[in-house]
Amino acid sequence: KRIAIFASGSGSNAEKIGEYFAERSDVQVTLILTNNPKAGVIQRARKLHIPVVVFDRTIFYETDKILDLLTNSKIDLIVLAGFMMLIPAKLVEAFPERMINIHPALLPKFGGKGMYGSFVHEAVVASKEKESGITIHFVNQHYDEGNIIFQTSCEILETDSPDDVADKIHLLEHKHFPKVIDEVLSGLN
Ligand code: GRF
Repeated sequence: KRIAIFASGSGSNAEKIGEYFAERSDVQVTLILTNNPKAGVIQRARKLHIPVVVFDRTIFYETDKILDLLTNSKIDLIVLAGFMMLIPAKLVEAFPERMINIHPALLPKFGGKGMYGSFVHEAVVASKEKESGITIHFVNQHYDEGNIIFQTSCEILETDSPDDVADKIHLLEHKHFPKVIDEVLSGLN
């Protein structure tokens, strides 16, 4: 099975996924794609010898070139790992139940437009939530509303800052995301 990972930022999730599957002969992280030429994920991909594709918004929203690349690369599953752009419908439709995303909160709470990265953790702290967590879900045209695959939570202390929450969330992501991807892959026909 072949995975393509889309990331816009530091890429710690992409790195953990790449490391998890590095020795596997039945699963390969074939491509890492990013919209951000300065993304930390580029260096992490290089270290893992995973090919990187950097694209800009025009290319992405024209979609055909990206779609051809993914099809020619025989990608079975698209993984969004900290990818900050809305996925064009054409791309979602080409990968039905074969595109998953990780959201750093317990959807449906703290989801939707603009709720990404540190904004989520700031909102969780501002709402004095006693817990937060991660949600791994299939992607559909409505962003964070696809069917939920996996969720797990962590305790939030009153003394926790948004950065403290981010640290706890990253730990959960790194621990669970690769395994959940493995399970989704074994469920694909
Ligand atoms: C993760 O917290 C992910 O849930 C969110 O963006 C962050 C990406 O972190 N969508 P990284 O780029 O994988 O380090």
